Amino acid sequence: MRCIWILLLGHIFVGTWSLSHQGQLPNFVLIMVDDLGIGDLGCYGNTTLRTPNIDRLAQDGVKLTQHIVAAPLCTPSRAAFLTGRYAIRSGFASTLYAGVYFFSSSSGGLPRQEVTFAQIAKQQGYATSLIGKWHLGLNCERGDDFCHHPNHYGFDHFYGIPVTNVRDCQPGHGSILKRVFDYVPYGSIGAALMTLVFLRVFGIISSTWKLVLPLALLTTMAVAVFVFMVFTYPYFNCILMRNLEIVEQPYSSENLTQKMTYEAVKFLQRNSERSFLLFFSFIQVHTALFASQAFHGKSQHGLYGDAVEEVDWSVGKLMETLDMLGLRENTLVYLTSDHGAHLEEVSVHGEMHGGWNGIFRAGKSTNWEGGIRVPGILRWNSVLPGNKSIHEPTSTMDIFPTVAKLAGADIPKDRYIDGHDLMPLLLGEVDRSEHEFLFHYCNSFLNAVRWHPLNSNSIWKVFFFTPNLSPANSTTCMHTHVCMCLKGYVTYHNPPLLFDLSRDPSESTPLTPQEEPNFHMILATIEQEVIRHTQTLTPMPNQLSLGNLLWKPWLQPCCSTLSQLCTCNRDNLTS
Ligand SMILES: *[C@@H]1O[C@H](CO)[C@@H](O)[C@H](O)[C@H]1NC(C)=O
Ligand SMILES: *[C@@H]1O[C@H](CO)[C@@H](O)[C@H](O)[C@H]1NC(C)=O
Ligand SMILES: *[C@@H]1O[C@H](CO)[C@@H](O)[C@H](O)[C@H]1NC(C)=O
Ligand SMILES: *[C@@H]1O[C@H](CO)[C@@H](O)[C@H](O)[C@H]1NC(C)=O
Repeated sequence: MRCIWILLLGHIFVGTWSLSHQGQLPNFVLIMVDDLGIGDLGCYGNTTLRTPNIDRLAQDGVKLTQHIVAAPLCTPSRAAFLTGRYAIRSGFASTLYAGVYFFSSSSGGLPRQEVTFAQIAKQQGYATSLIGKWHLGLNCERGDDFCHHPNHYGFDHFYGIPVTNVRDCQPGHGSILKRVFDYVPYGSIGAALMTLVFLRVFGIISSTWKLVLPLALLTTMAVAVFVFMVFTYPYFNCILMRNLEIVEQPYSSENLTQKMTYEAVKFLQRNSERSFLLFFSFIQVHTALFASQAFHGKSQHGLYGDAVEEVDWSVGKLMETLDMLGLRENTLVYLTSDHGAHLEEVSVHGEMHGGWNGIFRAGKSTNWEGGIRVPGILRWNSVLPGNKSIHEPTSTMDIFPTVAKLAGADIPKDRYIDGHDLMPLLLGEVDRSEHEFLFHYCNSFLNAVRWHPLNSNSIWKVFFFTPNLSPANSTTCMHTHVCMCLKGYVTYHNPPLLFDLSRDPSESTPLTPQEEPNFHMILATIEQEVIRHTQTLTPMPNQLSLGNLLWKPWLQPCCSTLSQLCTCNRDNLTS
């Protein structure tokens, strides 16, 4: 009996020691930068980009050096981050070329039965806010039902963009749609030539006009649709919202990082007397890049560097606000990126607009380390050690159970959670990560597996396929702008490629069975684990199917009228 009491008391003590700090649950400021490379930050070794505020976070907290995202693209990576589950579990598993949403009028989104860390925090009485990028769906049946809006996923407050920032959102910065548009003239010429051949073969030149006319009409219509799409993209897709209201359509990127920062500062001030969770999801440093006057032209790395340095300034403002409100000791701050830097991003003027992944191979859209190894910094002054690095494998999916536990909630038991509570590792109570295996998906395809065997320092990584690069022997897919996961764009490996990241973190040379005596045992173990993992997956409706990804006029959010091109500007900064 006494034993049970001691156990029980011990359990309560362990479970609540951090919660009872200042008699309040800890606050959370979770920061995600878009497309930021691990090599862009001073604390991860960059010597020329200036990120003093982020570096100070690392100095005062814990730096994870093997922090891994669940997918190398925005939409699935963010789904996994919010839910603590591989994106395939919520249906973010494209079988197409595209693996993210491009239109505000696409259907599909994070299934409502998924549970986010914001929902858990909200249930525990937290004030919750998402500021910045969402990219997990918007509408279901009408242009204004907002069924996939962040407000339905535990975020009381939202200020930001429901889709993503792209070049088309900023005049003069190029276009993502233009790639499709590029093929229209070829298509038209091809169709015209085929018609001529057809006419010649069947000797019906006399009735030429009967065939040419519909063909010409079809071609004109196709061209018109593409021109319309490219021209109207910003009006229809570059939307800034505050809660359920569209406040700018299209949004202006002028001072946008500043505006988001002030919105966040106000949220912190408003909620300083209660527990809060802020997810600050930077729109930068995804293209089209922007930086406000104070940062423009100031870095040594062009507009990309300017944007990173403004992000750092913004992080500094948030930290300063926490300090001023006396919340530093009771707030867990986390900073990461949604995946590696986008190495194919070169501006229309030939300037590098993607970041730097340090020693790690390749970048965004690949499962090479450069695509999935991201910064991971956690600061909680009164609780976590400072100036500490942890080299064990960790995942952005770990934030979900970590937040749930610290907020005093149970981790949902009715579903598979792939993340693990980070606290024991951060506190040094254990020195091994619970991630013995991590699965690296390329859309719906299992691309690679990482195995960190118990009682070993090895970190095996096995690739079932690798992207075909262009130019050959580079680390990019310049021909397609992002690397693809489909047949024709990848090389399959049988036997799979094997690396030991503990010896070869840059994945420079695959190991052969001669070099690695355990080669076959390692592959067999990983294959077993893949079978076990696959058995935990249940079929889900595909949120990124072609039917969902398409532009559907009836789902188009429009804050004015079509004749006004859906434009408006009613963002009231002083509110
Ligand atoms: C952006 O900030 C600059 C400098 O603070 C200011 O001069 C400018 O008017 C601002 N622009 C907008 C649209 O608010
Ligand atoms: C720092 O980041 C910039 C911009 O991404 C990159 O060009 C540069 O190579 C990096 N420098 C180092 C030393 O990592
Ligand atoms: C942080 O840790 C590093 C290496 O462990 C050490 O060299 C450095 O002096 C430490 N910095 C501070 C401010 O404690
Ligand atoms: C790429 O690298 C391979 C192996 O190192 C080499 O044989 C090949 O010639 C290279 N191709 C180009 C285009 O450089």
